[in-house]
Amino acid sequence: MKKIPNTFGLDVQADELWEYSSVAELETWIAQGRITAPYLHIGSGSNLLFLGDYRGVVLHSRIIGIETLYEDDHRVEVRVGAGMLWDDFVAYSVDHRWYGVENLSHIPGETGAAAVQNIGAYGVEAKELITAVETINLQGEKRIFTVDECVYSYRDSLFKRAEMKDHFVTYVRFRLDKTEHYTLNYGALKHELAKLPVIDLPAVRRAVIGIRESKLPDPQLWGNAGSFFKNPVVSRACFEQLYRQYPQMPFYEQDNRQRIKIPAAWLIEQCGWKGKALGAAAVYDRQPLVLINRGGATGQDIRVLSDAVQQSVYCRFGIDIHPEVNFIG
Ligand code: EPU
Repeated sequence: MKKIPNTFGLDVQADELWEYSSVAELETWIAQGRITAPYLHIGSGSNLLFLGDYRGVVLHSRIIGIETLYEDDHRVEVRVGAGMLWDDFVAYSVDHRWYGVENLSHIPGETGAAAVQNIGAYGVEAKELITAVETINLQGEKRIFTVDECVYSYRDSLFKRAEMKDHFVTYVRFRLDKTEHYTLNYGALKHELAKLPVIDLPAVRRAVIGIRESKLPDPQLWGNAGSFFKNPVVSRACFEQLYRQYPQMPFYEQDNRQRIKIPAAWLIEQCGWKGKALGAAAVYDRQPLVLINRGGATGQDIRVLSDAVQQSVYCRFGIDIHPEVNFIG
C-alpha cells in the first residue's frame, strides 16, 4: 500500500502509486497492458476528497518543463508538462514578463489538473490562456484537443466527463502576452494595488499571494482543498425572488444578466456555519467556502460536514450548492 498525496491531509492509501516522468514511459505501460481498472489519475490531490483507501492503481505525472513553441514581439506560446507545479509555471511567466497568468498565482496543484478543472481566480480562468491540451488514452492514441474542443465552463471541462477517464493529460499549451496589460476588475485585488505608486507583474503576483494567504488556510497547517463548493448560478427569476427577501445578498450577473452567481460563502455564513466544526472537520472561519481538517479527520468526516452545510443552504434558500472538490470512493 502507498500513501496517496492529498492536501486535505487524509491518511489514505492506494494499492499502487505509479509515477511517470515522460510520455514514453506512460506509453510503455499502456502498450504492456499494465494499466487496468480500477485506476485513478491524480495531480497533487489538491482538489480531491478520498472517502477511504483506493483499491487500485493511482497514476501521477512527473512530466515537467516549459518549452517555447512560438514567440514574436507580442506574444508567446508555451508547452508545459502536466506534472509541473502550477505556481512554478506562474512564477516563471512573471519572471519572463509574460502577461495573463499572474492573477492565478499561488493556486495549489499541477498544470494538468489546472487544465482539467479550469481553475480560476480574481477575474481570470485558465481557459482564457489555454490554446490546446495534449493527451494520450489507454489505447495509446495521442490527441491534441484545441481549447474549443475542451468545452470549458466554470470549473468544468470535457476531461471531467466519465467517458474521458481514460484520457491522460500530458502537456498543456498556453498563449501569454508580452504587451503590458492586467485584469484588475476584482474588488480586493484592485483595492490592494491602488495602494501602490506603480503596478508591474511582480506587484500583481505579490498582491494576489497576499490576498490568498489572508483568506485561505495553508494546507500544511489545516488540511483543505481550497473552495469546497462552487458558487451557485441561478436564473434571474429565482434571484429576484430571493433578493426581495435578502436585499443585502451579494451577487454577480452573468450571461447577459440572465443568470446570477451568488457567493456560496455568503449563503453558508448566513446559515451560521462560518467557523463551526462537526468533529474533526470544520468550516474555515475566514472563508466559509473552505472546509478544513482540524487534525485526524477522515474523508467521511468531511463528507458529513459537506452534506450538513449543503442541506442547511437548501433549507434556508432553496439553492443547491455543489462541491467543486471531486469525491473518490
Ligand atoms: N463572503 C462572505 N463571507 C465570507 C467570505 C466571503 O459572505 O466570510 C462573500 C462576500 O460577499 C465576498 C464573496 O463571498 O465578496 C466572494 O468571496 P471571495 O472573493 O473570497 O471569492 P469566492 O467566490 O468565495 C472564488 C473562487 C476562489 C477564488 C476567489 C477569487 C470558487 C468556488 N471559488 O471564491 O477559488 O480564489 O473566487 O477569485 O469559484 C478555489 O477554487 O479553490 C478557489 C479558492
